[in-house]
Amino acid sequence: MITTRNRSLTYLRWCRIGALLLLGAWTLAGCFQEGPPTHSIGHKHKHVGAKEGKHLRYQDPDRYTWQFPGRVVEALKLKPDMKVADLGSGTGYFTFRLGEAVGDAGKIYALDIDGEMNAIVNKEAVKKQAENVQTVLAVEHDPLIPEKVDLIFSVNAYHHLKDRTAYFKNAARYLKPGGRVAIIDFREGAYKHFTKRQTLVDEFQAAGYILDKQWGFLPRQNFLIFSRGTN
Ligand SMILES: C[S@@+](CC[C@H](N)C(=O)[O-])C[C@H]1O[C@@H](n2cnc3c(N)ncnc32)[C@H](O)[C@@H]1O
Repeated sequence: MITTRNRSLTYLRWCRIGALLLLGAWTLAGCFQEGPPTHSIGHKHKHVGAKEGKHLRYQDPDRYTWQFPGRVVEALKLKPDMKVADLGSGTGYFTFRLGEAVGDAGKIYALDIDGEMNAIVNKEAVKKQAENVQTVLAVEHDPLIPEKVDLIFSVNAYHHLKDRTAYFKNAARYLKPGGRVAIIDFREGAYKHFTKRQTLVDEFQAAGYILDKQWGFLPRQNFLIFSRGTN
């Protein structure tokens, strides 16, 4: 005999199965979502201090799945003796990869306004025996690159810069003839910090640059390369 109690139990069971199916679908959608996580990138590392947390999340192996560092460095078409400034280098996620691409004859300036980030890069440079990497304590309005470079490269830092048109007008003096500026930043809606593609183009144009190249292989990120248009 089907009692009211049995009916309620069956109903509850179906509710539970439905909820589990929904949870499964939601988890799968999250796993296969292209690009950076939409939750806080620091969510895994709440148990450590702020700087250590930054270090861990900037070096998070998950970054491979959406930052494609190998493809990015390849796309820059660096030559063995080039000089590159990694603007807003953080803990050096790209710095050392750039260093490998330019080799011993080249040079990478890791620029950051945060001395503690530079200290992490310095320690890592000793560990990796990366003699072509040199940190520079930049200031907010000026990268203070010690010499002219072939490329100013910046990942996830553009949105931090203030008065960017003035910043890159000034930064042009650190570029060799034919020098380039490569910017990677999240697209609108991809993450809480982002820069619209059109904003990038407009700001660089106002600073006297032209858009040289744009790459579309990075999920939910802009990857644009600018030059002064004078070779
Ligand atoms: C989100 S982190 C990105 C770090 C690194 N590029 C990466 O991809 O892992 C941004 C970095 O930019 C630095 N930064 C912010 N404003 C800057 C400025 N005006 N000049 C140089 N670095 C700056 C911050 O201190 C921080 O280390």
